[in-house]
Amino acid sequence: MTADLDARAEAIMRGNDRGGFTVPTARLYPFQWNWDSAFAALGFAAFDMGRAWRELETLVSGAWPNGMIPHIVFRRDDPDYFPGPDVWGCAVDPPSSGHSQPPVAASMAWRLLQADAGGAERARALLPGLAAYGRWWRERRATPEGLAVCTHPWESGRDNSPDWDGALAAVDGSGVAPFTRRDTGHVDPAMRPTQAEYERYIALVEHGRGVGWDHARITAAGPFRVADPGLTFMAVRADRDLAAMARALGAPAVAAEADARAESAAAAAAALWCGELGVYAARDLITGAWAPGASSVGFLSFWAGVGEPLRDAALLATYDRIAKSCAYGLPSYDPVAPEFDSRRYWRGPVWAPVNWLLAQGLAEAGHAARAQALRAATRALIERAGFCEYFDPHTGEGLGGGEFTWTAAVWLAWAREG
Ligand code: GLC
Repeated sequence: MTADLDARAEAIMRGNDRGGFTVPTARLYPFQWNWDSAFAALGFAAFDMGRAWRELETLVSGAWPNGMIPHIVFRRDDPDYFPGPDVWGCAVDPPSSGHSQPPVAASMAWRLLQADAGGAERARALLPGLAAYGRWWRERRATPEGLAVCTHPWESGRDNSPDWDGALAAVDGSGVAPFTRRDTGHVDPAMRPTQAEYERYIALVEHGRGVGWDHARITAAGPFRVADPGLTFMAVRADRDLAAMARALGAPAVAAEADARAESAAAAAAALWCGELGVYAARDLITGAWAPGASSVGFLSFWAGVGEPLRDAALLATYDRIAKSCAYGLPSYDPVAPEFDSRRYWRGPVWAPVNWLLAQGLAEAGHAARAQALRAATRALIERAGFCEYFDPHTGEGLGGGEFTWTAAVWLAWAREG
């Protein structure tokens, strides 16, 4: 069975390869997505190291002059996707969306280099782009203390998480230009964000376009600003990995700068500790309101290497409670939250790439049994349902798009050893 699934996973990755970049899945997501591509590199590394480096090279080559690697790079025309480049209105080449997505590319680059001694030249060529991206997060998309700010739900990678409900409700979506969604033509609408959410997503895009995608301004004064533990922890880890890679490549100045960013942001992350929820949680920077429940990314402090004994004991207790409440962990949202929905995208379903990050962090922090259980759950989901976009944590049913790149990548990199 494992050998069959290995072959299937490789075939999915090859099939989603569009020549140097990989789409998340055919039709539903026809371009290059930022963190999907980083995971694709991780997956390719299991069977084609050259292709793994290539994925990161094309991703980094889509960076803006200010260092941002966008959340989508529109590498080819596809009228079957909304919102396309004309809606975003970004004056960049290649055309792209106007905000970013979780920064895991530097972490994957460092993993590649550790596995491929012959990759030093390719890693060295990536270093300036990855360093500029780390700088962008800190200088243009963070609070002065270093908390990463989510300025559009799509930027978090967790599009319709309950973490955004409060802040999104305050966005006026009534005046947006009429549009036709494409996503609901590919996937059951019950598994996708609602129409009201979608109008507000587009209102935020229109706002960004209206201010010429001035990132610092959007971060400081835009209509949607939420400090996100997921982005913050992934940025801390990306900087730590960037520093390690820079040191290995003999670039001490890049390493020192990235280390300094990581240390100060790691200290700042304490402000996202929500004692009431027993987890690191998102916080609306406009109203001060906390998220309504625990998101799976609240446990990525382990991935970031951010530890504090008292908080960690409470955090692990929350983790264990949530993990035990589902047949398959880890749900993207705490099932006790009223907003939980086991089938709708980021409001409950399990996502393989998040499980990989969580388990990696747990293992590094010395929680091997929890990491192993998460790997076994991920393996069981894939064996049961195939390489789906996400999974129901109670029934194990596969949901969303099929033949998904990052699910295949996580299988090849890790889950098959479950
Ligand atoms: C959805 C997900 C996002 C992912 C994208 C492509 O928008 O929420 O995290 O990057 O699909 O797979």
